[in-house]
Amino acid sequence: MKPKVFVTRHLPEAAYHTLAKACEIEYWDYETPPSYEVLAERIQDKQGLICLLTDRIDAALMDRAPGLKVISQIAVGFDNIDVPAASKRGIRVGNTPGVLTDATADFAFTLLMAAARRVGEAIDYVHSGRWETWGLTLLLGQEVYGATLGIIGFGRIGQALARRARGFDMKILYHDSIRIPEAEAAFGAEFHELDDLLREADFISLHINLSPETHGMINANAFSLMKPTAVLINTARGPIVDSDALYDALKNKRIAAAALDVTDPEPLPSNHPLLTLPNLLVAPHIASATSTSRNKMSMMAVENLLAGVRGEPLPFPVNRV
Ligand code: DGY
Repeated sequence: MKPKVFVTRHLPEAAYHTLAKACEIEYWDYETPPSYEVLAERIQDKQGLICLLTDRIDAALMDRAPGLKVISQIAVGFDNIDVPAASKRGIRVGNTPGVLTDATADFAFTLLMAAARRVGEAIDYVHSGRWETWGLTLLLGQEVYGATLGIIGFGRIGQALARRARGFDMKILYHDSIRIPEAEAAFGAEFHELDDLLREADFISLHINLSPETHGMINANAFSLMKPTAVLINTARGPIVDSDALYDALKNKRIAAAALDVTDPEPLPSNHPLLTLPNLLVAPHIASATSTSRNKMSMMAVENLLAGVRGEPLPFPVNRV
């Protein structure tokens, strides 16, 4: 008998076919995620689960699926999964690191450029019929070339952003829990304590995991340290930035602009105060959204799933079971 798996969203074709050869698949074939209760019901008799960052996978949910052997997340981040609870229950957890690094760094740099040069406001200006003439002081933005970029979290994606920034002759500062001498040498990056980085950077880009330590890390105090011309980019996880403090900082011009691919809450309701701010750009969590990257992520998740249902170590493990 084939192992039974539940997949919480539509998979790309190649990944689906690979999975279907080895497993009996049950699907959540909708654009929005299954509710917690639906998910709990659907995984009761499953050995494998392929999930997304929008699915909350906690201990109580795992207890509803006594035969579950593997949780395979299609994302590099896994803050939606209670990994210690999975390990305690002997459930393997896998993720999809590496294959989305370039797509995500590209998008972080896209947001950086767009926020610096007020692209959102410029497009609105044209579309709303306000463009009457060329203006000497119209929509003035920040220079990116040669500016100082502060990268918080200097792992794969942070370093890939530094690689792009080098092409713009940017000075690169980084903050991480450890110093990374090879990366310092490769990118000419300078390690800074967090407060110093916040004080010195023209652009600040977040590339850390969401954890109890990083939750709300960019708060009112952090904004008070930034330059009034600073631009904040977040492609990591929404709750790393305190949304109320961000609103105040942007509204009161404590900083110049921000661009977010991730928000708190997520999705951001269309009547959220943040969406009234002209100096904020928001994208719907699409930094890794290229077909190449999403196909590879899905394939990796399937590889993790297949190993897990066979009781083998995962090729891309989050925990060691
Ligand atoms: C991740 O992988 O964690 C991103 O947020 C989505 O690709």
